[in-house]
Amino acid sequence: MSHSETQAVRTEVVGKAGLIILNNPPVNALGLKLREGIVDALSELNGDANVEAIVIYGEGKAISAGADITEFGKTPKLPTLPEVVNAIETSEKPVATVLHGVALGGGLEVCLASHARVALKGTLLGLPEVTLGLLPGAGGTQRLTRLVDLETAIDLITSGRKVDAAKALEIGLVDQIGQGAPRDVALKAANDIIEGDLKTRVTGELTAEIDVDVLAAAQEKYDRKRPKLIAPIKAVEAASHAAKPIQEGAKLERELFLELMESPDRQGLIHAFSAERATRQFPEAGAQPRACDTAGVIGGGTMGVGIATAMLLAGITVTILETSTERADNAKAAIEKNLASAVKRGKLSEKARDERLASLSASADLTDLSDVDVVVEAVFEDLAVKTEIFQKLDKICKPGAVLGTNTSYLDVNDIAAATSRPESVVGLHFFSPAHIMRLLEVVVADKTTDDVVATALAMAARMKKVAVRSGVCDGFIGNRILAHYRKVADYLLLDGNSFEQVDKALEDFGFAMGPFAVGDLAGLDIGWATRKRKAPTRPAEERYVTIADHICENGWFGRKTGRGYYLYGDSKSREPNPDVVEIVEQVRASEGIEPRAVSDEEIVSRYMTAMISEASRVVEEGIALRPIDVDAVFLFGYGFPRHLGGPLNYADRVGAAQLVAQIETYAKEDPHYWQVPSLLQKLADSNGSFADLN
Ligand code: 3HC
Repeated sequence: MSHSETQAVRTEVVGKAGLIILNNPPVNALGLKLREGIVDALSELNGDANVEAIVIYGEGKAISAGADITEFGKTPKLPTLPEVVNAIETSEKPVATVLHGVALGGGLEVCLASHARVALKGTLLGLPEVTLGLLPGAGGTQRLTRLVDLETAIDLITSGRKVDAAKALEIGLVDQIGQGAPRDVALKAANDIIEGDLKTRVTGELTAEIDVDVLAAAQEKYDRKRPKLIAPIKAVEAASHAAKPIQEGAKLERELFLELMESPDRQGLIHAFSAERATRQFPEAGAQPRACDTAGVIGGGTMGVGIATAMLLAGITVTILETSTERADNAKAAIEKNLASAVKRGKLSEKARDERLASLSASADLTDLSDVDVVVEAVFEDLAVKTEIFQKLDKICKPGAVLGTNTSYLDVNDIAAATSRPESVVGLHFFSPAHIMRLLEVVVADKTTDDVVATALAMAARMKKVAVRSGVCDGFIGNRILAHYRKVADYLLLDGNSFEQVDKALEDFGFAMGPFAVGDLAGLDIGWATRKRKAPTRPAEERYVTIADHICENGWFGRKTGRGYYLYGDSKSREPNPDVVEIVEQVRASEGIEPRAVSDEEIVSRYMTAMISEASRVVEEGIALRPIDVDAVFLFGYGFPRHLGGPLNYADRVGAAQLVAQIETYAKEDPHYWQVPSLLQKLADSNGSFADLN
């Protein structure tokens, strides 16, 4: 047995088997050391007369999650991944790969270039490059199209969807399913190759059947579905070259890949990928979390039911609390319905559903929460009601229980002060529907201890949520920023734009829905209630737009009442509500406003500048830890266009100096609303960026 070692790649010769072992935790990303190591290892084992078959496998949790994302945007270092893949395919001795954990992107491309593939049960395979604004750039579009049928290949390449090992075997992506540890499977694969029991072939020498109709249909679908995203379209173009000889097709694919590497979409999408992970870095993250295996959820409305569902799906035992047995039973039934729909959508097996249901109970007696690890109170937004509940919980709950309040804007310090254990109280702002929406704002009050914050974080991780730490202020990170920039939409409407134009301009920019359509969907009564609540503290200098109030006075609350800004009939399309158009005209006339519509570009500029301004203040005040936390809130809770990477990532594209100039221009009309935040001014003066503060 011979043995040579580099940091990330080791070789080992066992009998006639030459092993290439990848060891680059946590996910064997194919950074420089791995690429160099694989090329060196191939050369070494090809030169070893004892070796008859070479097998690559990975240590740790995966064979490989692909190219090293942290190297993107930097000067590429040789060997490139296409060179590594080429070295594998052209190896004189047969090379097999053992797939375990995940084989994604470049990781799968390494496997595709191998002469045989054995996957462990449960391995997930995919080419998710499009989700990062890229396309497979190491032969993935060329080799996948040679191994599986074109329609399947295009689907995988353009959607980034993963398939499991069983499906991969069915479609021809892998040759065998292996059992046991990757190393044992690798040794067996080498032996099988030598014995002729595992066939090898050179993928690049196979022929891809390219049907132009399939390609055209895919192009058309993506043009229609995601006109903003260029990566899927370019991926189809790359696949169209697969009928050419492999070297030629791979070269064209690489050119398209490098083109995408320079695109702003790629930067934004990778920022979004990083944002999801950056939020896990809390100052309190190192503390030992308290237990969170059993929970009580107080309130059986949509929010409480969603939270209880999310907890059950995460394997937490839940008691749902309501004010009467009947209401508690109704809440339980609603949770059961959510779980049934998860089964229907293929997210949960029937067996798992039954197990989850066995750990759900409903009660109308608060003392049933005496032994739970965590309580989440999710009753309506009324401080008096909430403080009364917390006073009771203080007496009932066991010492050490974490007491969470699901509030959108109330002061968590006030709620904590109702108990004798404010250190155990934390704000948990879920987004509705809570079992679907990924965002959770973890609101840390003055006395919340580190272990309680860590518990919230651990619970969020169990629920697969993106948890963003927030300080206490009205609206926390998301709703505070929303409350500010949302006013711009009303100003644009009052000053002369139609609500359809405002919605359309912002939808063309990338939002799934414009602000007026969102208002209709969320229920216009919600904003109305907030405006009434804030009326006593509204500064006299603030411009106040009464249009929405007039709409609500008519009982038109949006979709749920069939009319709001738009009319909602049977069809899904929205028609402007002519009565609202009339209200707008009346309000303009009564205020003596001469309508002046601005361009779509200016609509977007005003809206985004307002959003960035308040986001900047939220960072400056320490409500958000870093700019990237604001980005995560908007990406995962407010439907912010992912390819733009979040409001403060977008701000860096516009540039601080330009933003300041815009605010100064708009301030000429309304100096109260448009004020330059000092952090933004500082960045403009120092030529700095929000990215520098992450
Ligand atoms: N490069 C660098 N780092 C990576 C990485 C990659 N490809 N994939 C994951 N990581 C890092 C994560 O950033 C995270 O780092 P952190 O601990 O410092 O936050 C760590 O690995 C663990 O990742 P997760 O927290 O995401 O762990 P999970 O177990 O939840 O998920 C995963 C693992 C499914 C592999 C997920 O990380 C993932 O989807 N990764 C990206 C896969 C991908 O998109 N690959 C394609 C890359 S592009 C490419 O290959 C181009 C080629 O065609 C030329």
